[in-house]
Amino acid sequence: MIDFQIVDTYDELCRRGADIIAAQIQKKPNSVLGLATGSSPVGIYQNLIARYRSGELDFSKITSVNLDEYVGLGGDHPQSYRYFMQKNLFDSVNIDPKKTFVPNGLAEDSAAECAAYDRKIEELGGIDLQLLGIGLDGHIGFNEPGDCFVESTHLVALHPSTIAANARFFESVDEVPRSALTMGIGSIMRARKILLIANGAAKKEIVQKAVSGPVTPQIQASVLQLHPDVTVIYSKD
Ligand code: GLP
Repeated sequence: MIDFQIVDTYDELCRRGADIIAAQIQKKPNSVLGLATGSSPVGIYQNLIARYRSGELDFSKITSVNLDEYVGLGGDHPQSYRYFMQKNLFDSVNIDPKKTFVPNGLAEDSAAECAAYDRKIEELGGIDLQLLGIGLDGHIGFNEPGDCFVESTHLVALHPSTIAANARFFESVDEVPRSALTMGIGSIMRARKILLIANGAAKKEIVQKAVSGPVTPQIQASVLQLHPDVTVIYSKD
C-alpha cells in the first residue's frame, strides 16, 4: 500500500520526510536506516542535522546502510556516494562512523563485496526504514530497467540516461563511472518501512507510473506497490 502525498514545495517535502525519519529514530534509537544519495535527499539531511543540533535527535545508536556506490571511486573522491554521505550527513551528526556502511566501489572482487554487503544487512536484522530517491527511468538505488527484479546486491551497468543525468555532478560525461554496486530489490523490499521522495516537474510522470502504473521491472520503483508500508512524497518544485 502506498501513501502518496503531493506537496507544493521541496521545503514541505523535506519537513515531512524528516518527520518520518525522526519518528523512526525516536521510536527505535538503534534503528537501521537505509540511506540514499542524489540531490533529492539533501534537504532532508539538512533538516535532520538541524534537529540533531537542537537536541531533538540522537544518532549515537543508529546504523546506516547506503543503497549504492559507483565502481572505481574511493571514499575520498568527491563524487563517490561515501563522500556524499560524509559531507551531507555523517560529519554533522553523532553517528558512529563504524556503523555507517556504503558498498566499497574499489573492491577488487565485486561479487564478494556484494555478498558481504548482503550478509551485513542480514546480520543487522534488516532495514527498519529505507529512504529512496527515484531516477528518471524509474530506478531505485541503481536498479535499472530490465527484464527482472534482482534480489541481492549486485554489479550493474548504468543506463545511458542515468549516465547523462548524473553527468551534472562531474566535470564531463566521460568521467561518470559506467557501473555501480547497488543493493537489490530484495533488500529494499524487506525494509520494514519505505520512504520515497521526488521533486520537480521532470519526475512527475515517472512517479505517477511508479505509484499507480503496472508493476513491471521496466519501472523498478513500481515494485513498491507490493510493499505493505510505503510513503511517497512528491513536491512540485
Ligand atoms: C542516482 C542514485 C539514486 C537516486 C537517483 C536520483 O543515480 N543512484 O539513488 O535516487 O539517481 O537522483 P536525484 O535525486 O539527484 O534526481
